[in-house]
Amino acid sequence: MRIVIYRRGTGSRYLPLVREGLARRGLEATVIACDTPEEVEAALPVADVLLAWGLPAGDYAKAPALRWVQSIGAGVDDLLRGPSLSSAVPLTRVTGLFGPQIAEYVMAHLLAATQDLRRAYATQSRRAWEQWEPALLRGKCLGVAGMGEIGRVIAERARVFGMTVVGLRRGDGPCPEVDRTYGLERMDEFLPLPDQVVITLPLTPETRHLFSAPQFSRMKQGAWLVNVGRGPVVDTAALIDALRSGHLGGAVLDVLETEPLPADSPLWAMPNVTITPHISGLSDPAYVSEFFCDNARRFVDGQPLRGLVDRKRGY
Ligand code: GLV
Repeated sequence: MRIVIYRRGTGSRYLPLVREGLARRGLEATVIACDTPEEVEAALPVADVLLAWGLPAGDYAKAPALRWVQSIGAGVDDLLRGPSLSSAVPLTRVTGLFGPQIAEYVMAHLLAATQDLRRAYATQSRRAWEQWEPALLRGKCLGVAGMGEIGRVIAERARVFGMTVVGLRRGDGPCPEVDRTYGLERMDEFLPLPDQVVITLPLTPETRHLFSAPQFSRMKQGAWLVNVGRGPVVDTAALIDALRSGHLGGAVLDVLETEPLPADSPLWAMPNVTITPHISGLSDPAYVSEFFCDNARRFVDGQPLRGLVDRKRGY
């Protein structure tokens, strides 16, 4: 097996972990770690397995022997950009890692908004003893758009705070973490309910700009939007309009249509907008390497892979 690892700037961090994990499982492989687009371009012609994040579009054409691709993250939209990966090549994503960390991010930012932590820090810096009345999450309704494993953990945590939770999703079947679920075709019924909407949806042709002007106008006056899914699920220009008009109360954006967010974006300076640089669910190299090596064992044994992406759905 010839394994190529690529993640810009940090691919080599995975090398010792993957080597050790393969050896522990008795698997023999040549492993090449790449930190730059040039390095991965040179390594791809020999690759039959790829562990990657942010592969330059079009690079699959340089990897004719590819037999399996494992994403370093939860999302795979970056690995499905450009000339497509043959549908005969299984694509897997990391599962089981991101729910708790993204849920902490979401709860931290929801609480920061209701407790008005900006105001707390500002009044303290003026040494001012001025009371205000923090709002509460208790009794509020949280909308979770995307009821995969990440959305479900967020829903569980929100309920601990006494929130009602409604979910928006594509699939069906029971979803005990939320009070009610709505299929995408019933998005119009979902949108007016929440005080805050958290987006955990993957980016697919179906979800691109799913949140645009008509959807914002159906949301509750003063509602907040939190995006921890993918930037292009939100139409940024329409979001800016909805925030400027005061219809939306605020936004927390960890993912953006263009990353890094350009320095001249009005979002940086808008009141009640928090921007973070795609940090709500970071890939832990130790976890990802173990996940990958476990899948490598399965791959060699012809067993079902964990985190297999349904190529028709795109996640
Ligand atoms: C991060 O955005 C990921 O998909 O893991």
